[in-house]
Amino acid sequence: MTRRERLQVFSGNASHDLASKICEHLGISLGNLELQRFPDGEIDLKVKDDVRGSDIFVIQSTCPPVNENLMELLILIDCFKRASAEQITAVIPYFGYARQDRKSEGRVPITAKLVANLITKAGADRVLTIDLHATQIQGFFDITVDHLFANPVLIDYFQQLKIPNLVVVSPDVGGVKVVRAYAKKLSAPLAIVDKRRSGPRETEAVHIIGDIKGKNIIIVDDMISTGGTIAQAARALQARGARDIYVCATHPVLCGDAVEKLEKAPIKEMVVTDTIPFNHKNNKKFIKVLSISKLLSEAIRRIHNSESVSSLFT
Ligand code: R5P
Repeated sequence: MTRRERLQVFSGNASHDLASKICEHLGISLGNLELQRFPDGEIDLKVKDDVRGSDIFVIQSTCPPVNENLMELLILIDCFKRASAEQITAVIPYFGYARQDRKSEGRVPITAKLVANLITKAGADRVLTIDLHATQIQGFFDITVDHLFANPVLIDYFQQLKIPNLVVVSPDVGGVKVVRAYAKKLSAPLAIVDKRRSGPRETEAVHIIGDIKGKNIIIVDDMISTGGTIAQAARALQARGARDIYVCATHPVLCGDAVEKLEKAPIKEMVVTDTIPFNHKNNKKFIKVLSISKLLSEAIRRIHNSESVSSLFT
């Protein structure tokens, strides 16, 4: 085997379990490295495997603690670059800092662009990610971005539930395009919650567009952070006569008391993926976690073999 043909997968601390599952699917061992902290908190990394000339995939979600995980990712990329890897793909199942993707008012940063610059400058040759908060963030990178959708995994689960009288709901107007794909595949009509954001942590569900009375509902969102958007949407839907309410989201950021907040809302089941590790004490009762490891491993295999990635979704 020539070195460029050698595929190696490494993980930062944010994505260890997911990376191990990906390696199982690929039939390889997870790369060996030591990732610790110096006494002052700085990151102390030593890669134990030879990576010269290899095709490296480094898996790290930039989920909370966001700054720690982002810095780990940058240091990992820098390390592989300096160790003469042939190609480095930053596999970022959850891409954090994505919400500030434009100057929506004066004197605010565009953090999504800043993070794209940092990853590129550190030495990544490609990025592989899932359900970006805004798909145009792909264009913030001047390197190749392969953007995957978690919907095959999530839709498959709901198809098996065979929920009757179903309506798929977007919890805000911005999510309609994504939610339409779910509605189409589940052969269900679409409704929209007209959400107003009154601050970074507060939202208000105002109106519902569409017929939801007496219907079973799946609310679809890309991520759940404080849980405010989903909890309010579920309450508004119930108040207007919806029956069973399911929630489906790719990225379980679930910060602070989000899980407790969602448990108090009229939600029958919440389904998320493992782009972000989730080990809440109540997760068995209420939250189902589906793995996107098979999808990611197949994308990695195809990138390594220069095969089509988009055909995974046709
Ligand atoms: C908004 O544009 C997103 O799609 C999510 O609805 C939002 O980020 C969720 O945030 P939270 O859970 O804090 O309401």
